[in-house]
Amino acid sequence: MTISLTNFDHLTEEERYARFMDKINAGEKIEADDWMPEDYRIALVKLISMHGISEIMGALPEKEWVPKAPSIRRKLGIMAKVQDEMGHGQLLLRVVEDLLKPLGKNRENIMDDLFSGDLKFHNVFHMEAPTWADAGIIAWLVDGAAIITQTNMLNASYGPYARALQRICAEEVFHAQHGESIILALAEGTEEQKQLLQDALNRWWPSLLMFFGPKSAATTGSSKQDITIKYKIRTKTNEQLRQDFFTKYVPRILALGLKLPDETMYYDEANEEWIYQQPDWNEFKKIIKNEGPKSQERLQLRKAAYENNAWVREALSKKVVAS
Ligand SMILES: [Fe+2]
Ligand SMILES: [Fe+2]
Repeated sequence: MTISLTNFDHLTEEERYARFMDKINAGEKIEADDWMPEDYRIALVKLISMHGISEIMGALPEKEWVPKAPSIRRKLGIMAKVQDEMGHGQLLLRVVEDLLKPLGKNRENIMDDLFSGDLKFHNVFHMEAPTWADAGIIAWLVDGAAIITQTNMLNASYGPYARALQRICAEEVFHAQHGESIILALAEGTEEQKQLLQDALNRWWPSLLMFFGPKSAATTGSSKQDITIKYKIRTKTNEQLRQDFFTKYVPRILALGLKLPDETMYYDEANEEWIYQQPDWNEFKKIIKNEGPKSQERLQLRKAAYENNAWVREALSKKVVAS
């Protein structure tokens, strides 16, 4: 039996909330027109708009490598990936649009928030990608990290997000394979290519650790994490996801003959956890405040594209009258 969250004007706020929690705890999906508590809606808007806009901003560092890809095959691969990421952004912003409607906001407001700095995008996409090995590391490990966080939300309580993630995750797997193929070619290449790869890994390591966000939730009671876990949007904390990333990728990095950028890192068998050096979290705060090495340049690029394409949005929003 499904629990209805519509047409229940006769219920008090507490009764509505209780029924909402019953629905979530029964594993049923919340849909766009269902009643939902304000903090659930706000948490979803924050999470999904940040995810969606990061997909779009994430296309920018890789786009730089489309004209410079080393072969036509690689060019086709990276072009397809860039196109997929923009598609992911579109899917997610559509999901956010429905959540924003009752708040009197729309998709344009999301873009305005990005340009004003109110809406943050993922720390990794503020960084430079100076070599082809960086393009490989982004696809292999940044997409690999994204797969870990996103598969954790495949069963999210909010139906439209969970369904969008099904498709996104399937495509992210292709992206990671494309990255792995670039990485393998470099790892089996000349000494110079191997060095290029090691340098890129060293450069990306702190950003990859930061990708999962600071360790907090249960330990420090970070409300953002607690809310997403309480409402079953996700199940694992930032730190659990980072540990999953280490477990999956540290052996692979070593198998390629690469050195771990953190020489002190080890697996503590007794406590079943990776012990590692923390990245500079003050730097993380700066980066996501749009003070990273490429933040302003990429925001300007996005702004120029948004302004140049205003006519397309305008044309699509008008009814076409056949003459
Ligand atoms: Fe994506
Ligand atoms: Fe991707």
